[in-house]
Amino acid sequence: MYQVETRHWWYLGMAALTRVLLKRWVSSSPLRILDAGCGTGSAMTTYLAEHGKVTGVDLYPQALTYCQRRKASRLACASVLDLPLASASFDLVATFDVLYERGVSDELKALREFSRVLVPHGKILLRLPAYDWLRGSHDARVHTQRRYTKSRVKSLLEQSGFRVEHLTYANMLLFPLALIKRLSERLTPQAEAKSDLSLPVGPLNGLLKAILASEAPLVANFELPYGLSVIALGRKEE
Ligand SMILES: C[S@@+](CC[C@H](N)C(=O)[O-])C[C@H]1O[C@@H](n2cnc3c(N)ncnc32)[C@H](O)[C@@H]1O
Repeated sequence: MYQVETRHWWYLGMAALTRVLLKRWVSSSPLRILDAGCGTGSAMTTYLAEHGKVTGVDLYPQALTYCQRRKASRLACASVLDLPLASASFDLVATFDVLYERGVSDELKALREFSRVLVPHGKILLRLPAYDWLRGSHDARVHTQRRYTKSRVKSLLEQSGFRVEHLTYANMLLFPLALIKRLSERLTPQAEAKSDLSLPVGPLNGLLKAILASEAPLVANFELPYGLSVIALGRKEE
């Protein structure tokens, strides 16, 4: 991830989408932000940092070492199931592609932890992979435990004390290509599961990034009917 997240079309396209979402749905004043499951630190040191002071938490020490290489300093090695952070100490929790992992045994417990560390009316911005039936070899490589539908995300957020303000699928335009890729993986199984993170050749990488990024205004303002990710913006109820 560290090697590709500043160049790979998926990361760059998602960064463009998320920038527009944040601009549309999150206040412009400096916020206290928790990047829950921060990985190797790209989001927390770029577009999240544009909105305030970001604290990153990840289960794996190696991930935090990479965050430090990106000059992140507010870091904690901990599980989202048991955050070593004071209650009501954040305005925004961002959690991108974390709750679906095997490392999160109980996503409701994690969401309740996010609610605990948020101030009243604090916000959560959540991204998760869509549809269990779309599982592929990438999922095997990255420890996917489950994939989600919009209605499942809505139900989980509501059960953990959030009101859903915006809920949509994303990465819709490239959905047919992903479907073909997943079906071909099933027809010609490989001995070893491969991740989708290898970098396509230059012009193709640029084209895929441009297609994904072009969805940004749609994702921020409308509910897209299908896509490869689910994105939700919730607000902590009092
Ligand atoms: C697919 S990566 C996403 C990283 C980052 N949010 C991003 O968008 O690039 C999932 C991250 O979740 C972390 N993770 C998995 N289980 C966790 C847990 N229980 N608590 C905290 N982090 C966890 C992994 O270590 C990994 O860095």
